[in-house]
Amino acid sequence: MRLDYTNMLSSALNGRGIHEEDLAAFANRFREIHEDVERRRATGEYGFFELPYERETLGEVRRFAEGVGQSFDTIVVLGIGGSALGALALQQALRPPHWNELSDEQRDYFPKLYVLDNVDPTTIGPFLDRIDLSRALFNVVSKSGATAETMAQYLIVRERLQQQFDADGLRGHLLFTTDPQKGVLREIATAEDIPTLPVPPNVGGRFSVLSAVGLLPAALIGIDVEKLLDGAAATDERCRNSSLLDNPAGLFAALQYLAHTRAGANIHVMMPYSDRLYLTADWFRQLWAESLGKQKSRAGKDLFTGPTPVKALGATDQHSQVQLYMEGPFDKTITFLTASSVGTDVSIPSIHRELPAIGYLGGHTLGELLDAERIATADALARNGRMNMTIELPRIDEYAIGQLFMMLEIATVYAGGMYDVNPLDQPGVELAKQLTYGLMGREGYTAPEISTASRRIIE
Ligand code: PA5
Repeated sequence: MRLDYTNMLSSALNGRGIHEEDLAAFANRFREIHEDVERRRATGEYGFFELPYERETLGEVRRFAEGVGQSFDTIVVLGIGGSALGALALQQALRPPHWNELSDEQRDYFPKLYVLDNVDPTTIGPFLDRIDLSRALFNVVSKSGATAETMAQYLIVRERLQQQFDADGLRGHLLFTTDPQKGVLREIATAEDIPTLPVPPNVGGRFSVLSAVGLLPAALIGIDVEKLLDGAAATDERCRNSSLLDNPAGLFAALQYLAHTRAGANIHVMMPYSDRLYLTADWFRQLWAESLGKQKSRAGKDLFTGPTPVKALGATDQHSQVQLYMEGPFDKTITFLTASSVGTDVSIPSIHRELPAIGYLGGHTLGELLDAERIATADALARNGRMNMTIELPRIDEYAIGQLFMMLEIATVYAGGMYDVNPLDQPGVELAKQLTYGLMGREGYTAPEISTASRRIIE
């Protein structure tokens, strides 16, 4: 994995961007942050660091995927946020496109995988009507075992299963991925002997992709989860280095932080030039936003801080967003994601050679065109003083994706240190949750007072 950050530096941006002296001077601050992160890791606070070495869970995941898992042709993950985005990203990056539309043979007889990460009835209702419940496994993924959206899905699925199967049959179509000790899902599993996989207590949703949360769905559809963990372990090793310029996660976090705090770029765009990495940008968007967008510092002082992550897709968004990135406010960094080897390529035929406006395309490949567009866009942005960097994977495989995920997770806790916030909590989502409980009639909660008289509405 390469991180090319030339275009983040003022030397490439006609004076805009990050000054190399500022980056060099930040190395001392980074050493302190690195030490703090290592200390928190040693106390078990940052449990995600240990996931690449959790070979016991790996064994459990594999046994389940290679045993029971084989009897289903449809896997349905019920989960939201950190319990869903990792599985979606892994499926898109590491399985052929349109996986669920392929024939059994094209899928090598691995099941289809659906991740229901919302409660829109117009999606859930027709989806459940369409699938063959007798061939489906429902993996209810919720660390807390209390998330309203996931639990509502579970209740709906359970009722449908109950209508079709007896208690034994029902049990055979359910798997709970949840906290090993606490929560309602754990209680139900214990009472009814439903199979479970653990989410380690010290690993939060958005850091859980390399736990059973992401690994089980991945393993069920034939992704080599051991290689994923090997890649993550390699990045972890690399990031034990406290020298900023030798630590890719440290450097990524520092560049984004300095771009925000010294150069006014509070919007961090991640823009893969690969359809297969688009949901990785989505996964990162949650990680960066929920971890760093905070009111309070660690000591409780008001900060109201955090970068705004945005996802975009190359080359598609060159025709949607890049005008803004080129000429709008200097409030963004753009991180391009790419792979040196695309694996599959498609030749562009040499037809209409006589028409220079399109004839030049013939004899090239789509991969070449996509890459040329990325290089050109990065260069054009730099010429306009726009900060951008490129993360280049050697190829899109399990090992490289493991490296990338781990790098971005480690960068997030370093960035937590830089912004002086706790990257593991999300107090800002509590109030709306409680008001929702009130609206849904949960005992002990009050619905928001919506007085029609005070609303300003136009129809
Ligand atoms: O990252 C997080 O902690 C959250 O996004 C959670 O993953 C999300 O709220 C779902 O929580 P749970 O797994 O408890 O259902």
